[in-house]
This record gives sequence, structure tokens and C-alpha cells, in this order.
Amino acid sequence: MPEHTSDVVVIGAGLIGLATAWQLAADGLQVTLCDPAPATQTSTVAAGMLAPVTEVEYGEDDLLALNLAGVNAWPDFAARLEDATGVPAGLHRTGTLSVAYDVDDAAALRRLAEYQRTLGLEVEVLTGRESRKREPLLANGVSGGVWVPGDHSVDNRQALTALLRAVEVSGVSLIRQRVAQVLTAGTTAIGVQLDDGTAVHAGQVIAATGPWSAQLKGVPDELRAPVRPVKGEVLRLRVPEAYRPALNHTVRATARGFAVYLVPRPGGELVVGATSNELGYDTRVLAGGVFALLRDARTVLPVIDELELMEAIAGLRPATPDNAPILGPSGLDGLLWATGHYRNGVLLTPVTAAILSATVRSGTLPDLGKPFLRSRFGHF
Ligand code: GLY
Repeated sequence: MPEHTSDVVVIGAGLIGLATAWQLAADGLQVTLCDPAPATQTSTVAAGMLAPVTEVEYGEDDLLALNLAGVNAWPDFAARLEDATGVPAGLHRTGTLSVAYDVDDAAALRRLAEYQRTLGLEVEVLTGRESRKREPLLANGVSGGVWVPGDHSVDNRQALTALLRAVEVSGVSLIRQRVAQVLTAGTTAIGVQLDDGTAVHAGQVIAATGPWSAQLKGVPDELRAPVRPVKGEVLRLRVPEAYRPALNHTVRATARGFAVYLVPRPGGELVVGATSNELGYDTRVLAGGVFALLRDARTVLPVIDELELMEAIAGLRPATPDNAPILGPSGLDGLLWATGHYRNGVLLTPVTAAILSATVRSGTLPDLGKPFLRSRFGHF
């Protein structure tokens, strides 16, 4: 059986796996990254919001701290990535406007703003008129808003291009093959076996396997990652010159109880997302999903009718039972998890890479990562 050796082997070349491999290589380790189709799955479907404040959920305090660290880490991460590659990292610092359509939507938005304030987050409650001052093409029916200056976005496709270049220039060995299983010796992971039978031996294995984490072979049953796929459909539209910019900021909206978000890109693209369905590994784009996204987007931004529909695509969010990621030691020596990022994969890319690299180098999970160990779920 042919063999390779490395200090670290990373399984999965989505944003998390690419950034982790790059960070480890930048920190002086020899890294192998395995994926049959790098940068093609959930990471390319995502809208790329950096939304720790506007996506905060009641009672998720540890996750909020990690998500805030995530948004704070992006500017330096993007600068380093651009320095290393000469490729734009796609960070777009615009702030986010949350808007409400009817009276019930507005009441829910105000309640959330009160909660955000109790957490010390920066939010400013606006009237409908004030919201339209920030975004003149919003519908007259928009009844109120909340301005969140610290939530931004990243063009995830640009970030993927930059990261693919970064792993190449930093000497990461990228193997375009599926990992058949994690190899173990007793209770220690010692590498991975690829589909063609090749063994890649490594002192540490990092599983950045996203929605496929629960199926990773070679992981003892009681240590499997409780990660399930949650489908999201996303649309990409092109704004004609005459209507640019259709939006200046990311806009999140609740329209008659339905949530939708609209993320503008500097080049005239508008990303509209996302549905949320538990349908296993089904990534078909359904008419009902496209209809719902367009209906809700159009309710708050009528000019949607004039945009060109360029793409409708579906991806699988890697969800865990508590919506937070699984980071660090797995319970199997030599195997670390970097998975389960659910709705926050783009946001948590830099901070996950930093946490995993620090864990490999020091043997200790940094404090920020400690609430996110696999062991919090017990035997699943
Ligand atoms: N964070 C956006 C989504 O998961 O749809």
C-alpha cells in the first residue's frame, strides 16, 4: 500500500478545512489536505453573512462569544490572506439592517433588539422611514428596522479562491481523493486511508467534514460527531446598472412571519437566502423554496422583479443538537474535530483555524474553544 506522512492531515477542503490547513502550514507544520472536490459544497452555496448579532438566539451565550470572536478575527484574517496570495479575500464591511414588514414582525424585531441590548450588543432601533433612508429601495410597507453596525459579509466564493491559492503557496499537499477511513492503532488515530488504498500517516488528524461528519469511518461509534445536514436554498441575482446598488448593506427581513436575507456584493450580485429544511442529503432546488425566497424578498424589496435570476443552489448546513460547532479533541487520541458550524461556517472560519492550530501546536484547546468539545453531547 503506498504511503505518505505529514505532521497533520486535514479531511475536507471547505472553508474550515482550507483555512485550518493554511493556518497550520503558516505555523510551520507539514500538512496534507484531502478532499475529492475542494471548495464545491456548502462553503460555495453560503451567502457569507458575518452575523453574530442579527443571528443571535435566546440562550446561546457561549456561541455568541465565539461568533463575536469570529467577526473580530475576519479583518486580520482577510489581510493576511490577501498578503499571502494577492487574491481578494472578499470581506465587505457594510453593517446590517434588520427590517420588519407588518406590525407583528416589528414587535418581534423590537423584542430581539431589547435582548441584544441586554447582551451589550450595539443595535439602533429605527422607524420604517429611517430604515428607508438607509435603504431607499425598501418597500413603503416596511414598518421598522434595527441597524446593526458590526454585522458584515464575506464573498465566500472569493474567500475560497484565495484559500485555495493560500494552501498552494504555503506548501500544503492537497490530495483530491475521498478519505475512506481514519486509521487507528489501539485508541489513537494515526492517519487516514484514501479511496485508492493510499495511507496518509500523521501525528494529528483533523476532521473538517461538515455535514458528513457523522459518517466518518474509523471513529468509534460512541465518539461519532452528532452532526446532521440541514438544507438551505439560496438564490443569486444580478442587479442591472440602472438599479445599482439595489442595497448598500446586508438586509435581513421578517415579512409576515417569514425570514429572508439579502446580501449585496460590490460587483452587482445580490444573494438571497435561505430556506431551512431537514431532508437528509437532498440538495435538489425545489420550486417551493425559490418561490418562498422571491416572495419574501420582493415583499421588502420590490425591485427584485427587475433583477436577473442567475443561480438557484442548495447546500447542507452541518447542524448539531445545540447549534454550536464541535471543536478540538474527539476522545480518540490524535483526532480533532472542526465541524458542526451550522449557520456560522463563514463567520467562524478564521477563529476555527486559529483554535485548531493552537491545539495542535500546544496540545491544549484554547479557552475560547472549551465549550465546544464533542464530549458535551455524551454518548450520542
Ligand atoms: N447563516 C445563514 C444561514 O445559515 O442561512
